[in-house]
Amino acid sequence: MTPTLPDHIAIIMDGNGRWASDRGLPKVHGHRAGARSLRRIIEECDRLDVSYLTVFAFSTENWSRPPDEVDALMALMAEFSRSEADDLRNQGVRVIPMGSIDELPAMARMGLRSLAELTASGEGLTLLLAVNYGGRSDLARAARRLAEECLKGHVRPEEIDGRVLGEYLLSYPHPDPDLIIRTGGEWRLSNFYLFQAAYAEFFSSPVYWPDFGPEHLAAALQAYAGRQRRFGGRPTDDSEGG
Ligand code: FPP
Repeated sequence: MTPTLPDHIAIIMDGNGRWASDRGLPKVHGHRAGARSLRRIIEECDRLDVSYLTVFAFSTENWSRPPDEVDALMALMAEFSRSEADDLRNQGVRVIPMGSIDELPAMARMGLRSLAELTASGEGLTLLLAVNYGGRSDLARAARRLAEECLKGHVRPEEIDGRVLGEYLLSYPHPDPDLIIRTGGEWRLSNFYLFQAAYAEFFSSPVYWPDFGPEHLAAALQAYAGRQRRFGGRPTDDSEGG
């Protein structure tokens, strides 16, 4: 049976650019509005007692965007880390940056690191901030580390299965997402959680991320509650058929 509420929700926050273009505004305004939307959704997930929320905030491919947009996104991460730190800590939200954080410009890197430190003891919602994250580089890094462990004689190649590989991914030891929501109407993973998405339910919302609010999250949760998750097996009630 599928539990009514997902333990782990992951969101591909798409549509910031189109939201801004529709208003004749530069894209950065869309990202700023997106940061406000993120704050509302964190609040709502916490209120609903969701255990984990991952948001895809900057992909390894996003570096190819115009430099002023990349700079604006980095500045926004630094600002978000500073301005939301106290509220998130008081709320008991534990923030964990996930991705190649070392490669970020100093302001964003330091901001995210200090946000993580400040909220480390949070016992409520765990927020995984995927920044400079890519599913393929996550897998490549895990393969590299496993190869090193094999060379050192710590792991035998025949021991490597899906469970072991999962332990070398950046999301470890957090659980795989149960529900992946993509806003902005597209149906793509865009190099997000390639391995971890194996049995996630997928929901695409036509709403642009800056407009995505608790009512749209509720629609995604309602759809999730109606899904029957099988993890490759048969339904528990066989009357449902194959
Ligand atoms: C995709 O929209 C969105 C991003 C590349 C960035 C997401 C970032 C935020 C929501 C900012 C807040 C994040 C933090 C951690 C402060 P798009 O620009 O590709 O939209 P489009 O497809 O309409 O052009």
